[in-house]
Amino acid sequence: MVYRTKLPKTASVANYQSDGRLIAPSAARNATAIVDLVKRISPKSGQALEIASGTGQHIVQLAKSLPYLTWSPSDVDVDRLNSISVWMKDNDLPNIKPPQHLDATEIGWAATIGQHDFILLVNLLHLISWNETETLVEEMSNCLTSTGVALIYGPFMRNGELISDGDVGFHKSLIETDPDLGYKNDVDLLKMFFQSGLIHLESVEMPANNLAFVLQKCTA
Ligand SMILES: C[S@@+](CC[C@H](N)C(=O)[O-])C[C@H]1O[C@@H](n2cnc3c(N)ncnc32)[C@H](O)[C@@H]1O
Repeated sequence: MVYRTKLPKTASVANYQSDGRLIAPSAARNATAIVDLVKRISPKSGQALEIASGTGQHIVQLAKSLPYLTWSPSDVDVDRLNSISVWMKDNDLPNIKPPQHLDATEIGWAATIGQHDFILLVNLLHLISWNETETLVEEMSNCLTSTGVALIYGPFMRNGELISDGDVGFHKSLIETDPDLGYKNDVDLLKMFFQSGLIHLESVEMPANNLAFVLQKCTA
């Protein structure tokens, strides 16, 4: 397992509550923009997997706003899985399955987890290496049904460039912690998606300089 406990403080900020729930200020800030985009591009029925669900704030909002999809949260970290359960208990939504442990950088996870019509990944690729990203994208493609759609959101370089001082600082803090981490380049990712059998439908500029890639399984 390659789950990294050593990351810069700014990489995954979430505050513990007394009930075991975690609250990430960034997840609260970007939830509406993500839910709105998912609503626009996702299928109108079927199974939806969230990789690296984190605190559980997003999946609860998504399950409320898109009740026609059945949502499966997942994460590699036990504390996050526990937090997702607390958020779920509070909201009592019939269309969320129990959170499952998933290391998305492990080869072969798609075969064990089953096919999904929609996959969401928010804010992970800058925290893993290029090789791990290749595995994750390949498995994501394997996990999608023949018409499945995926959304990958996060901070990325645009054509090799970091686009703000904040992005320069964050990327630097990541590569100083581990030279394998850091922002991935959008152009290189587009090639990787294609090689993994994913058609790039669109890139959407999101708040705070984030970018979202909308992808569809290519069955040809
Ligand atoms: C920056 S947080 C993002 C969480 C959530 N998606 C959000 O945007 O609020 C990164 C998450 O990725 C999870 N993670 C790290 N490595 C992972 C891996 N190899 N497979 C699955 N999840 C992973 C962490 O436990 C953490 O919950």
